[in-house]
Amino acid sequence: MIKGEQVYEGKAKKVFKTDDPELFIVEYKDDATAFNGLKKGTIDQKGVINNRVSNHLMKMLEEKGIKTHLVKQLSDRETLVTRVEIVPIEVIVRNIAAGSLSKRLGLPEGTKMAETVLEYSYKSDELGDPMINDYHIFAMKLATRAELEQIAAMSMRINQILSDYLRDLNIELIDFKIEFGRTATGEIILADEISPDTCRFWDSVTHEKLDKDRFRRDMGHVEDAYKEILKRLTGE
Ligand code: TMP
Repeated sequence: MIKGEQVYEGKAKKVFKTDDPELFIVEYKDDATAFNGLKKGTIDQKGVINNRVSNHLMKMLEEKGIKTHLVKQLSDRETLVTRVEIVPIEVIVRNIAAGSLSKRLGLPEGTKMAETVLEYSYKSDELGDPMINDYHIFAMKLATRAELEQIAAMSMRINQILSDYLRDLNIELIDFKIEFGRTATGEIILADEISPDTCRFWDSVTHEKLDKDRFRRDMGHVEDAYKEILKRLTGE
């Protein structure tokens, strides 16, 4: 597999072309940002850990019938993925109140909610990823009705599978953000990453935070938290 021209650089990853037009290589960086890039830093070995964690979780989801962009891990920081056009919507799934929802609705962090909450944001760095609803999505033609229906159903199913899987590892899945892509044939598949950067993971017993909130909130032991998640998932 030949690594070709860079097609995209985000805050945590770079994406490269390959000699196969339907395949891209994703390269995970140690760079970390928060609050739409206002806070910048690095988390030692984050790229290596997130590459492994995301691939491990996507492989598990594939085994349960969720289609993902994962093809195979190529190296510590690199993974071969199916080329997709990213749907410019961030899907946020929330099981327990935390973060911006706690702030917005005045629900203390850790509050159990009667139902799982699904939120959408418009992927735009300039605008700071504003929250949107179904009407905005159709009005802006970000996705069709059929696509959004599928995205919502897949997100709920992913939440169920991930929550059950993590519970057995003593990890509580508080909330997470996922992104979807359209393949060359127009199929909707799970893309981007699932990692401590994009999920809130709390220890089920101690409720200790094992995710990027340790970086966002200057809590210390950031690297240890990422390592602990990798260890619980893979034993490594
Ligand atoms: P929030 O409470 O800050 O809205 O975050 C909800 C979830 O989404 C949390 O698990 C972190 C994740 N997230 C991202 O992956 N990227 C982002 O840019 C933001 C704001 C949150």
